[in-house]
Amino acid sequence: MKIISRFIIVVLLSISASSFAFKAKENLHKADSTDNKTVNIIETKIDSLIGIMTLEEKIGQMNQYTGFWDVTGPAPKEGSAATKYDDLRKGLIGSMLNVTGAEQVRALQKIAVEETRLGIPLIIGFDVIHGYKTVSPIPLAESASWDLEAIKKSAEVAALEAAASGINWTFAPMVDISRDPRWGRVMEGAGEDTYLGSKIGVARVMGFQGDDLSSKRTIAACAKHFAGYGFAESGKDYNTVDVGTSTLFNIILPPFKAASDAGVATFMNSFNELNGIPATGNSFLQRDILKGKWNFDGFVVSDWGSIMEMLNHRYVATGKDAAELALLAGSDMDMESHLYIEHIADLVENNEVSIGLIDDAVKRILRIKFQLGLFDDPYRYCDPNFEKETIGSKPVQDAVLDMAKKSIVLLKNEGNILPLEKSGLNVLVVGQLARDKTSPLGNWRLGADNGTAVSLLEGLQKYDGNNYTFIEGPKMFDEEFSFPKEIKINNNDLTGLQEVIRAARNADVVLLAFGEHAFQSGEGRSQSHISLPGVQQEAMEEIYKANKNVVLLLHNGRPSAIDWADKNIPGILDVWQLGTQSGNAIAEVIYGDYNPSGKLPMTFPKSVGQIPVYYNHKSTGRPKLPAPDEVFWSHYTDIDNEPLYPFGYGLSYTTFSYSNLNVDKVENNKVTVSFEIKNTGKREGREVAQLYIQDVVGSVTRPVRELKGFELVNLKSNETKKVTIQLTENELGFYNNDGKFIVEPGDFKVFVGGSSKTQLEGAFKLD
Ligand code: NOJ
Repeated sequence: MKIISRFIIVVLLSISASSFAFKAKENLHKADSTDNKTVNIIETKIDSLIGIMTLEEKIGQMNQYTGFWDVTGPAPKEGSAATKYDDLRKGLIGSMLNVTGAEQVRALQKIAVEETRLGIPLIIGFDVIHGYKTVSPIPLAESASWDLEAIKKSAEVAALEAAASGINWTFAPMVDISRDPRWGRVMEGAGEDTYLGSKIGVARVMGFQGDDLSSKRTIAACAKHFAGYGFAESGKDYNTVDVGTSTLFNIILPPFKAASDAGVATFMNSFNELNGIPATGNSFLQRDILKGKWNFDGFVVSDWGSIMEMLNHRYVATGKDAAELALLAGSDMDMESHLYIEHIADLVENNEVSIGLIDDAVKRILRIKFQLGLFDDPYRYCDPNFEKETIGSKPVQDAVLDMAKKSIVLLKNEGNILPLEKSGLNVLVVGQLARDKTSPLGNWRLGADNGTAVSLLEGLQKYDGNNYTFIEGPKMFDEEFSFPKEIKINNNDLTGLQEVIRAARNADVVLLAFGEHAFQSGEGRSQSHISLPGVQQEAMEEIYKANKNVVLLLHNGRPSAIDWADKNIPGILDVWQLGTQSGNAIAEVIYGDYNPSGKLPMTFPKSVGQIPVYYNHKSTGRPKLPAPDEVFWSHYTDIDNEPLYPFGYGLSYTTFSYSNLNVDKVENNKVTVSFEIKNTGKREGREVAQLYIQDVVGSVTRPVRELKGFELVNLKSNETKKVTIQLTENELGFYNNDGKFIVEPGDFKVFVGGSSKTQLEGAFKLD
């Protein structure tokens, strides 16, 4: 029977090995995952292919190397260009990352398709995190828009450009929740909240993948880093993670589940250990939860070298053990550890791992390759003409500009210092970042060329009714920087400050382009200080003495601790790193052509010592001051408990009021909450109306507030709109400590308003 079926398979595929991909094409329908017939055809083809693969070829599919020039992790010791070409020809590579460009990818794909025995195409991965050549705001900034459509669109254009450039798989979205702004990678996520993070993660998956993975305009997405990476102790990248079950089930895992439910093609595991077991070798996470409970049928890629790093964790003693445990735990593809290729054959031959596990991993990888249409046409993503007409095209630029404007958050606007009048002002612009055309591109913009962002100065030039003076002032950072290297910050040289101070005395308004450089956040860039870096605080205080009309244009890749600025500087706009169209977006907001509507997706602390400070904390047994001067409550003696700016906070050039909160009928655990919002100011504006609940008493203690709904509302001056939000069991329940989702009867509070601190309150009861 076995012999016969193998014979049939061979005939079916008519193996002339190197032409497999093209032969397969005749049999393949378009890979629409919603179409059962197509799914069955793909599964049949996968089975056929598996049936004729040697063990070596199977292991090859599970092996991923970085390209020949760029690295996004510690430089590999092995893997010289020659060895890689050799491995490629032998069918020992299933995927490459960091190879880009339609021509370059075509050249590699040609080897895989034409020179290997079976001609299985490569899947080409790249970190398309917030854009490819044309760059959107960093993900944390995008998340401040709360605009799921705009975020989806931003991922869509990123996918389009990447796909046109040979890439068919992005290592995004990062759906790690984090409460620690010291952690450099908060720039890559959606902030501190699980509900918002889940919605944004899904929007990004849908944007990257579209509804047809085989289209030449879409790419496979990757939910990462599974799991717990954002809870690194002390915010230090790659550090130990030790979290309780309640936090794991209710805070960390839900955005991953949402991505899986939305059909994300792949997952990436993570560098960290989680409660003593490295995530890469963690079968509870990858087998029991992801592939078991959630029924995920895509594949899991390791993070860069994370299989090998299990040796450093001292979880295994040898590379062979690392390969074995990672495989057993459900890591399907080895990114840059070179350990699967080295040890798996031995492990199978010595019966230490079963061939069934290998087949399962390979099937998962082949499934995504089929769905991407790579067997149909391995060069689908390699058309240089399409590349040329797509990259930087008008629709892409429009999408990233729209995203950039919506990402800006107005943190303070005393005396309505903003927006500025469009004429008659002497405007002094200060700071190295004002002329910078690279930092706005953010940290994870590997595909973009340095110097391609619109700088603030360029953006301002379009508003030519005012008189501008630019004085850079003290240096902030050394302009020699690169993705893998530390950036040098000027910590003591105030040269240039006096010139700024003199000019400030004669200016009507001073725009301070201060804050972080993009390479102060991102991977491997955690910081123990999150206030203005280097000499900037001192410079700001001196400039403020000369002129009080200061607007701080705060550049950052994380929440910043800017307590002094908040107390003194009248205008503060958080302009993050806004991508290619940065300067244009900031200028439009400064001059009021776009009324800022962003709300913080992460709490801003007053001081690093408050971290972690987040809105959905628990009550504790001692939440309140018992009596004046007594110390026996949960607090600090040297700073209050309140953050500088809470989650969900952000101002507008207009004002909004909330009223008429109604909580209707509780039937089958469904609650309808409605309320009205009025634009009480003079300008048209957009408000992110937020709804929080408190489950008053829980069998596992519940947070003081939890975001459970939001809506973007555009309102003209004086206009009122009614908002209705439905709460169902999905929003009202939680995971108990056994990981079971439960809804408990009892009292609930509901809060609606423009931030997590809102006071408008209602109540309901579940029976
Ligand atoms: C390591 C990072 O943790 C991961 O997010 C990224 O996708 C890979 N390097 C590949 O560059």
